[in-house]
Amino acid sequence: MVKEFEHEEQLPLLNLKNVVKQVKTGSDQLTILQGIDLQIKHGESLAIVGASGSGKSTLLGIMAGLDQVSSGEVWLNGKPLHTLDEDQRAAVRAEGVGFVFQNFQLLPALSALENVSLPLEMLNRYSLAECRDRAQQWLEKVGLSQRLKHYPSQLSGGEQQRVAIARAFASQPSVLFADEPTGNLDRHTGKQVIELLFELNLQNQTSLILVTHDEHLAQRCQRSIHIDDGCVAKDEIQELTHA
Ligand SMILES: Nc1ncnc2c1ncn2[C@@H]1O[C@H](COP(=O)(O)OP(=O)(O)OP(=O)(O)O)[C@@H](O)[C@H]1O
Ligand SMILES: [Mg+2]
Repeated sequence: MVKEFEHEEQLPLLNLKNVVKQVKTGSDQLTILQGIDLQIKHGESLAIVGASGSGKSTLLGIMAGLDQVSSGEVWLNGKPLHTLDEDQRAAVRAEGVGFVFQNFQLLPALSALENVSLPLEMLNRYSLAECRDRAQQWLEKVGLSQRLKHYPSQLSGGEQQRVAIARAFASQPSVLFADEPTGNLDRHTGKQVIELLFELNLQNQTSLILVTHDEHLAQRCQRSIHIDDGCVAKDEIQELTHA
């Protein structure tokens, strides 16, 4: 058991080999990703930047096991996502992956507490009471102890994103994927959400892979890659400013 764990730790978190993504639009075929090679280490923070339409969200979806490659290989925590079907990929996601999206993607019919608890319940790892307790603790950590019973429509954008962050961290994933997490928030709220994201990321030693248009935010990550027309145009390790 221990050996297996050590072995897993030595593998890169993510290993992409010649990843191509093509989609059909009418009679045309569009190549969105044109042969991406990329390795990401455990604990690394990586920003993905690039122009609108360059393929950032598509790449993120593939790395997270939300979307399937057309050809090439994607290994997440040593698991070959490119060989797995949707159900198998869903199981990998539930176990080890957290998400934060631009539009929050909370379930509207569930309270904040239920939104955070539900993915935990689906893991069958804890009793219902334990799931609710954990969910409550995470909502307290993100400063929402007074909003447990609120529905998403009764929460501000910043509050909804904090629920989404609590939900993402609650299952203790090894990696958190965030696609423009501040895109729908005002500057001040966006900054608070980012501080929270990096703080929890550090505390929980989670890897962070972040799509952003915000240069300042990209500079907070250890590494940034620039996507241009479905290719990695630049791959830079950066000096951390923490400003
Ligand atoms: N399912 C699809 N069918 C057809 N075209 C698609 C599909 N998904 C993405 N695309 C196209 O692929 C390109 C890349 O899309 P993607 O969402 O990855 O871009 P992005 O870099 O995240 O852009 P943005 O910064 O605007 O979010 C776009 O031109 C988009 O229109
Ligand atoms: Mg996008």
